[in-house]
Amino acid sequence: MSSAESTAQDDRLPTAPFPDGWYFVTGREALRKQTLIEKTWLGQEVVAWCDDEGTVCVADAYCPHLGSHLGPTTGGIVRDGCLVCPFHGFEYDVSGQCVATPSAPAPKNARLGLFETRVMNGMVFAWWSSAGQPPYFTLPDDTSDEDGWTPVGLRYFRLTTHPEYTTENSVDIAHLSHIHGYFDVHQIGAVTVDGAHLVSAFEFKRERSFLGRKFRFEVSAVTHLYGMGYSFVDITEHTVPLRSRFWVLATPLDGTYMELVLASQVQEAGRVNRSIVGLGFLPKRMRARLMNHMMLERQVKDVDQDLPVWNRKIFRPRPVLSSADGKIMLFRRYCTQFYPENQTGAGETLKTLARM
Ligand code: FES
Ligand SMILES: [Fe+2]
Repeated sequence: MSSAESTAQDDRLPTAPFPDGWYFVTGREALRKQTLIEKTWLGQEVVAWCDDEGTVCVADAYCPHLGSHLGPTTGGIVRDGCLVCPFHGFEYDVSGQCVATPSAPAPKNARLGLFETRVMNGMVFAWWSSAGQPPYFTLPDDTSDEDGWTPVGLRYFRLTTHPEYTTENSVDIAHLSHIHGYFDVHQIGAVTVDGAHLVSAFEFKRERSFLGRKFRFEVSAVTHLYGMGYSFVDITEHTVPLRSRFWVLATPLDGTYMELVLASQVQEAGRVNRSIVGLGFLPKRMRARLMNHMMLERQVKDVDQDLPVWNRKIFRPRPVLSSADGKIMLFRRYCTQFYPENQTGAGETLKTLARM
């Protein structure tokens, strides 16, 4: 490799590959169907399962006994809500405790390392901290019991990038018109930071072909970031009476690859004009699910446009910005609190950010 190539490679990551935060592990429905999931996640091998009461557990994938991998590809299974090791049959409950072995009392100190877990709107998240800190910020409340929303649909991408790059799109309003073709893009109000919570609101218009016709959509979007792994966008479509919740979930896998998950659910917010969407004849429930599917496919197209850039871009610590750019540097300062080497003390970091 030439020195120029190696410099470009070194510059690809802004800093540590695994910033602290809450990261997506799996969909709740996928966990229910597959029973036991294994995954490389933030440089760790993890397994996830749930017991008969629905309590979800995300744990270190290696058995405390003699180190077998506990995942299904090695032969791990879930029986009566407990994870059973394929090597000697030790059984672990969702608290991580070994509760039985086939031939001797369970050793009291046989415990799996657990990750703090949150289940929200059909998605399972777990807390990651490089320095082993307990969660120092929380995710918003689960809203899955609110009426009128479709189930969450999920789409998965695998790419070579860092969550800071994909999440930076939340404030990079200039790219919305250039790469995605949106127009009349306006930032609404100030981008605000309150500890780990960043809010950015904007409006835009876009044209899309739909059932063979071209439609213009007017959209308001409020993005809420909670770290680099969790980005939530509250979207109101003004042309079609539709609200949608949209998540962009960036999860570093092994230091090279990152998983990007798009999640979406919609709610009809009024009477659907059949001349606009051509779906007025469908039962409301079916129409909402179809519209969620179409919204997701539209977002997939947007991500397909971003992917070639994300897969190869480098980190510019001092980017040369224009007056059309969004609050890129504010976002960069916001991100520093999630890198352990910057944590002179979480309280001090949060105070500094509150002054920005
Ligand atoms: S290595 Fe898991 S039971 Fe022995
Ligand atoms: Fe984008």
